[in-house]
Amino acid sequence: MRDRTDDVYENGFTDHVLVCTNARDSEYAACADAHGEAVLEAVRTWLRDRGVFWSRVHVAETSCLGLCSAEGTAVAVHPRGRWFSDVTPGDVPELLADVFGSEASDLRVGPSPEVVESR
Ligand code: FES
Repeated sequence: MRDRTDDVYENGFTDHVLVCTNARDSEYAACADAHGEAVLEAVRTWLRDRGVFWSRVHVAETSCLGLCSAEGTAVAVHPRGRWFSDVTPGDVPELLADVFGSEASDLRVGPSPEVVESR
């Protein structure tokens, strides 16, 4: 095992945007049926347009985040600890501007003090 924490932060990482695209073959709602793929693409596009997609902000397609809804997708941003549900593709610009600033200039540098202290 290798601890790559320093490498990741030295490469410019600030945040992960997690987008649920979970599919479920049941009566219960799942993000795959509530714009999951379209929200994922809207997140990628917004970040790419501001030059921070994967250079600073990583995007991960995830399974269930526990915020299932038939109205829209679940999105989480970490390590900021922000959680959203019922997200539609049209909501993405407002959501990401709220988290990162309209030009994605509100980016943190380095791990949180809690991470540093625990190592
Ligand atoms: S299926 Fe997306 S949060 Fe549960």
